[in-house]
Amino acid sequence: MTMMPWPGIHRVAVLSHLLSWLTLCCCIPDPKLRESRMQLEASRLTGGALLLTEAELRLSAQLHKLKEEEMASSDFPPALHFFRAKPLIQRSPIYGLLQRMPKGAALHLHDFSIVGVEWLVKNVTYRTHCYMCLTEDQTVRFLFSSWQPKPIPQCSSWVLLETLRSKTGNTTDFDNSLVRNLTLFTEDPEDAYPSQDIVWKRFEQAFVSAWGLVTYAPVFKDYYYEGLSQLYMDNCMYLELRALLPETYELDGSTHDSAWGLKAYEDVTREFVSEHPDFLGARVIFTMHRGINSSMALKAVEKAMNLQKAFPEIMAGFDLVGREDRGRPLWYFKDALSLPNQIGVNLPYFFHAGETDQYGSEVDDNLLDALLFNTSRIGHGFALLRHPVAKELSRKSGVAVEVCPISNQVLKLVSDLRNHPASVLMSEGHPLVISSDDPAMFGSSGLSHDFYEAFVGLGGLSSNIGTLKQLAMNSIRYSSLSPQLKEKALALWQRKWEKFVSDNT
Ligand SMILES: *[C@@H]1O[C@H](CO)[C@@H](O)[C@H](O)[C@H]1NC(C)=O
Ligand SMILES: *[C@@H]1O[C@H](CO)[C@@H](O)[C@H](O)[C@H]1NC(C)=O
Ligand SMILES: *[C@@H]1O[C@H](CO)[C@@H](O)[C@H](O)[C@H]1NC(C)=O
Ligand SMILES: *[C@@H]1O[C@H](CO)[C@@H](O)[C@H](O)[C@H]1NC(C)=O
Ligand SMILES: *[C@@H]1O[C@H](CO)[C@@H](O)[C@H](O)[C@H]1NC(C)=O
Ligand SMILES: [Zn+2]
Repeated sequence: MTMMPWPGIHRVAVLSHLLSWLTLCCCIPDPKLRESRMQLEASRLTGGALLLTEAELRLSAQLHKLKEEEMASSDFPPALHFFRAKPLIQRSPIYGLLQRMPKGAALHLHDFSIVGVEWLVKNVTYRTHCYMCLTEDQTVRFLFSSWQPKPIPQCSSWVLLETLRSKTGNTTDFDNSLVRNLTLFTEDPEDAYPSQDIVWKRFEQAFVSAWGLVTYAPVFKDYYYEGLSQLYMDNCMYLELRALLPETYELDGSTHDSAWGLKAYEDVTREFVSEHPDFLGARVIFTMHRGINSSMALKAVEKAMNLQKAFPEIMAGFDLVGREDRGRPLWYFKDALSLPNQIGVNLPYFFHAGETDQYGSEVDDNLLDALLFNTSRIGHGFALLRHPVAKELSRKSGVAVEVCPISNQVLKLVSDLRNHPASVLMSEGHPLVISSDDPAMFGSSGLSHDFYEAFVGLGGLSSNIGTLKQLAMNSIRYSSLSPQLKEKALALWQRKWEKFVSDNT
């Protein structure tokens, strides 16, 4: 290209005259129209219609700037696997803010994955009478017992952990191997978990490994107390726990039933709340594995109704758990699930539904079926965008979606969290809450890591302080609390929120 002389002043003037003539006349769209459409879209976003205070707007501007900086980095955490992103997130000032932020309620968590596994290893496995055995596939089982336990099919020899530890060369290495057994966390997740089948297999193995520790009655209570503490430390103020309420056992091999477990949750919750008056408590959603057959499902629903009658305060309802793609679809359980309605009992449902990428499969019908059974919320709803009717119903009847970004990523439904489908739900202000599903399995804590992914990954540069505020308020609004308790919770949250905003601006 040859160098052209800079156009003379005369030519610039002609050009600008021409441009203004074009604008006036026809061809460039009206900037006011553009502006109003942009505002319309912004108002649809979760929290987009909230009126914000001066201080909130200042904090929002601060967050926006921090987000731009993180997005400019070549290692943008939401684009990475959480196991790789975690150290980056820990250093992020946005994460620091989200930890301090009062997040309201944690509505989707499972009973045996609420406490960081370090605690299981460093506290629980160091207790006396703890036996361990190594199975053929090199996974571990634990059992507390006042005598040498008998061999079971997977476990030919139980060894007292004290003895094992004294024989191992390096207890740090040994304890780390136990930590690895109890969580999915690994340095190289892409290599370790090439498929959904493989990651789910390890996930289920880790649950089985933890089982003997967490179902030992004294640990069952301590574990739950520790779980509440960890949520409280993360600035959550209320929990709805999906719980299997399994048989628990004592050192002498005697056992306790589900009612004992529910009573234990109730007692420990009361104790925790009396020590932490700004924590509001917890409710339990009784869960069964979705692999059960129809006659067992009928028994499970009957049991749920009985538990609800005996413990109306803490029992919130019923759900089915386990991998949706391998379990039975909700419609298979139609007889059992219709029973309460038939006999005039109100047993609220909180179904996992749409935690699948198998569009059009039987399991993919779960979203519509969950709504047909009047579910109170939808666990995951990952497939909701493919079900316009379910989406409409969920929106119209205020059936909130419990979005768990890190869980969906680790269990391989999505790899880059900017592409998580709930990004769309957020952009249109669909009723949703953020939760963490199984934080101990993923190495996340409380809700803050998932809030980070939702705010920075799903929300991009669009989400703002209003989004965070709305998400926290949603968690109370869509909880199973009574209207009076919701009001109380919201008032308490509001005070915490105002303090959070003024402390950080
Ligand atoms: C145990 O192994 C770790 C590395 O895995 C090492 O840092 C530590 O020094 C070892 N401790 C002893 C007592 O050898
Ligand atoms: C589980 O612990 C055992 C015993 O220390 C160890 O041999 C095995 O490698 C661990 N499994 C995993 C997945 O790390
Ligand atoms: C283990 O946890 C219990 C209660 O949760 C606590 O009382 C105890 O001191 C802890 N023990 C250790 C060794 O950390
Ligand atoms: C359902 O499962 C239970 C427990 O596995 C079993 O005992 C029962 O026979 C099964 N019922 C049917 C109808 O298959
Ligand atoms: C769901 O709610 C509708 C409307 O209240 C009611 O007619 C229907 O019987 C309910 N279905 C079930 C299974 O609870
Ligand atoms: Zn779940």
